[in-house]
Amino acid sequence: MIIEPRMRGFICLTAHPVGAAQSVKNQIEYVKSHGEIANGPKKVLVVGASTGFGLASRITAAFGSNAATVGVFFEKEPAEGKTATPGWYNSAAFETEAHAAGLYAKSINGDAFSNEVKQQTIDIIKSDLGQVDLVVYSLASPVRQHPVTGVLHRSVLKPIGGVFSNKTVDFHTGKVSEVTIQPAVEGDIENTVTVMGGEDWAMWIDALKEAGVLAEGATTVAYSYIGPSVTEAVYRKGTIGRAKDHLEATAFEISDKLKDINGKAYVSVNKALVTQASSAIPVIPLYISLLYKTMKEMGLHEGTIEQIDRLYRERLYTGGEVPVDEQGRIRIDDWEMRDDVQAKVSELWAKADTENLAEIGDLEGYRKDFYNLFGFEFEGVDYAADANEMVNIESIEK
Ligand code: NAI
Repeated sequence: MIIEPRMRGFICLTAHPVGAAQSVKNQIEYVKSHGEIANGPKKVLVVGASTGFGLASRITAAFGSNAATVGVFFEKEPAEGKTATPGWYNSAAFETEAHAAGLYAKSINGDAFSNEVKQQTIDIIKSDLGQVDLVVYSLASPVRQHPVTGVLHRSVLKPIGGVFSNKTVDFHTGKVSEVTIQPAVEGDIENTVTVMGGEDWAMWIDALKEAGVLAEGATTVAYSYIGPSVTEAVYRKGTIGRAKDHLEATAFEISDKLKDINGKAYVSVNKALVTQASSAIPVIPLYISLLYKTMKEMGLHEGTIEQIDRLYRERLYTGGEVPVDEQGRIRIDDWEMRDDVQAKVSELWAKADTENLAEIGDLEGYRKDFYNLFGFEFEGVDYAADANEMVNIESIEK
């Protein structure tokens, strides 16, 4: 079928398999162009492996360090005449490339919050790899069914304690407007922490350790965000920020539990980037378009693959101590948070409006990244050609 983007609000309902494969290939090429990661990971589990930072983590492990990878994700498979979600096509392409390169790669498509998927993952590691030496936890989900209580929790993106108003942009139209978000109500903070905090990460590590599938000296890393003062009320000091506080605190608890196998848990604070998750947060798209413009002009711009490649090579696997901030966090958002970058973005923020945004912000870069998430607008892909939507992931039985 001919596959075109079909937008509904801030989501795209279709995805392009050939474009997704191109995206994966581009990321692989980027990592390979930097050569092999000395002392890199060899057997890696990525939870949330199909898009964004998790996909980049899987690609960097495999193609930067020849690692065997197990990927867990929650994606919709295709049906005749109906495309899969992008992460399905990304994972299919990843496995094809990994297998062609002689690398072990298996995937599990299911709810990572459930006991069943954890058990399935453990069984695969036990039978195929024995143990893993790196566990990347990169889930971004709006809901979590708690495996013990059965309760379905929903996360929300709200300020805490007061109404928040600021500028935002509809990146489809370029219209800058004022958005007002009502503060969190009873239960919102708790629910958001339950979905996006560290409890499930700790459950994964407990289950893996108990099953004996964590190698001596194993590392685990989860991803967090801080960001600037303009997004603070809705992000870091909002409900999602509470979840990130919890995630960051959980790293210390996990590290304690891993002491007997000399393991260590880290949180890496990453850069703001266009992903399915971030485009749904008001204010963030405007910030990102000003940030992209500024960082591109300064020659500092990175996407997910550049971020994770740098995380592995210059933070996690330098062969020495992992550099962390005063709160024990890895900072790969260091370039985003540079004083000169933030000063420029604040200056642009103050004057951004519908008339000048195309010029002072990188609206086009934002838009292209968004389309890219769904496999559209890649160079070298013929979008007018018939594409087969019925793509299989090699390791997943039909
Ligand atoms: P994403 O939406 O691209 O990826 C989310 C992944 O989680 C996908 O692989 C998806 O299939 C998987 N997933 C979601 N629910 C699942 C479930 N129930 N079971 C199994 N898999 C499930 O998100 P992104 O942006 O890469 O986020 C990953 C982490 O990075 C999050 O913790 C996020 O807060 C963090 N982060 C994101 C930043 C951004 O600007 N996008 C910045 C800094 C940190």
